[in-house]
Amino acid sequence: MRIILLGPPGAGKGTQAQFISKEYDIPQISTGDMLRAAIKEGSELGKQAKDIMNAGGLVSDDLIINLVKERIAKPDCANGCILDGFPRTIPQAQALADADVAIDHVIEISVPDDEIVKRLSGRRQHPGSGRVYHVDHNPPKVEGIDDVTGEALIQREDDQESTIRDRLATYHQQTSALVDFYQKKAAEGGDAPKYDKFDGTQAIDDVKQQILTALKG
Ligand code: AP5
Ligand code: ZN
Repeated sequence: MRIILLGPPGAGKGTQAQFISKEYDIPQISTGDMLRAAIKEGSELGKQAKDIMNAGGLVSDDLIINLVKERIAKPDCANGCILDGFPRTIPQAQALADADVAIDHVIEISVPDDEIVKRLSGRRQHPGSGRVYHVDHNPPKVEGIDDVTGEALIQREDDQESTIRDRLATYHQQTSALVDFYQKKAAEGGDAPKYDKFDGTQAIDDVKQQILTALKG
């Protein structure tokens, strides 16, 4: 099962990816988490990505396409994977199609911009695993501490209001075109990926149940 999660910053892609990953025992591939890990390591990729990410822009298609191609070739992806935050541009989607990477399902999670700005200020993340929490909607058992490892949670550098607005603008300019791209493909039927859209303003568990039901259908 290969799944694409599509949606604006803060829609809940990472949150829902973790549920799908457990249910189907397939890895979550978050390009955002991979880039943040590269920044932490101080690698060449991290150096190139840091300023772009903090300005709410997109890292170059070539860099990202190579990163994802290498990642999905790994053995743990043999039974599929969840692409969280990739593709994000038409050239990235085209590269996936050209590489004959078959996608079963595209899941769009939709949330209005103003709701996202409010929501992201309450996000906390465990940097090692990418696990996400929310101070009100999905709090950790102990404030500021990851449930699994007991390590400290952080706020992402790009979760300041001005950067969130820039990320939203980037989404509308460069990524939202993928909605049309994949809806048109789905309409062709046959081997084309199925397309389903979910209202991401519902409670986390309701979104989860609806997505898992759609994936079984
Ligand atoms: P990335 O890390 O992918 O960020 P993003 O797309 O902006 O998405 P987020 O991770 O902010 O949100 P999410 O949808 O995963 O929501 P989450 O589940 O965490 O990318 C970061 C940057 O890397 C990009 O800006 C770009 O620069 C670069 N990059 C990445 N991929 C790239 C690519 N392919 N090409 C080029 N550049 C790339 O949830 C958010 C919060 O809301 C959490 O606190 C959560 O607990 C809470 N929450 C979730 N669902 C609900 C709900 N239903 N109700 C209430 N709260 C909820
Ligand atoms: Zn995410």
